[in-house]
Amino acid sequence: MISLRGVRKRYPDAEGAMLEVLSGADLSVAEGELVAIVGPSGCGKSTLLNVIGGLDTDYTGEVEVAGQRLTGLSDKALAAFRNRTVGFVFQSFNLLAPLNALENVMLPSFFGGAAASEGQQELEARARAALDRVGLAGKAKRRPPELSGGERQRVAIARALFGRPRLILCDEPTGNLDAKTGAEVIDFFLRLSQEDRQTLVVVTHEERVSKAAGRVLRLREGQLIDGREGAAAP
Ligand SMILES: Nc1ncnc2c1ncn2[C@@H]1O[C@H](COP(=O)(O)OP(=O)(O)OP(=O)(O)O)[C@@H](O)[C@H]1O
Ligand SMILES: [Mg+2]
Repeated sequence: MISLRGVRKRYPDAEGAMLEVLSGADLSVAEGELVAIVGPSGCGKSTLLNVIGGLDTDYTGEVEVAGQRLTGLSDKALAAFRNRTVGFVFQSFNLLAPLNALENVMLPSFFGGAAASEGQQELEARARAALDRVGLAGKAKRRPPELSGGERQRVAIARALFGRPRLILCDEPTGNLDAKTGAEVIDFFLRLSQEDRQTLVVVTHEERVSKAAGRVLRLREGQLIDGREGAAAP
């Protein structure tokens, strides 16, 4: 499902020198796998997800996701890839406050995330099904300010599920939630993995994920290594 070979990514630092964040990172993730990524702040975890999700193209090396070679794709082709193949869940839920939950879930359809053949009713039914999947069927008309943090994140997850993505990428999805709410969100990801065999890559320090994950990888010095062995606390 995911193959990274020798991915290098550099950013210019404040002095104009280049800071290498990914230094020949290799990664293989199979369909249906749940992989946790850990590592200290600033080590490049979000950068890595951006590369996998086709949000960043400024790197060297080979990246293939869901049978699609991302290296060298046009911006338009990359946007189509993101819409069709990847669901993103971020630490900050990135919901639009004026829109209700249902409209937030349907948002990707306004950016080409829906087949032209699909009518408004079908899109709405699909969005309702996604809200139902995250247990929020009864709150479709609520706007984000009227929802709790955990509910907001579940709307964001429903939005990620809306396009039936083959891959879901989560960047510290519980970072803004209290422990109990975070645990509920994590449990939901574990169900997606176990019941739907959803492929998930989750940047998180939550032990529940690392315990349930097929693999835990640690990003160290720009490379991915086994995160379970000899792992120092972050
Ligand atoms: N657009 C950018 N321009 C320059 N440097 C950047 C840019 N984005 C990230 N960096 C730097 O790259 C490094 C890795 O950043 P990244 O956001 O991937 O880390 P992270 O592991 O996700 O950290 P955190 O756990 O705090 O979210 C950091 O040193 C960061 O300052
Ligand atoms: Mg980050």
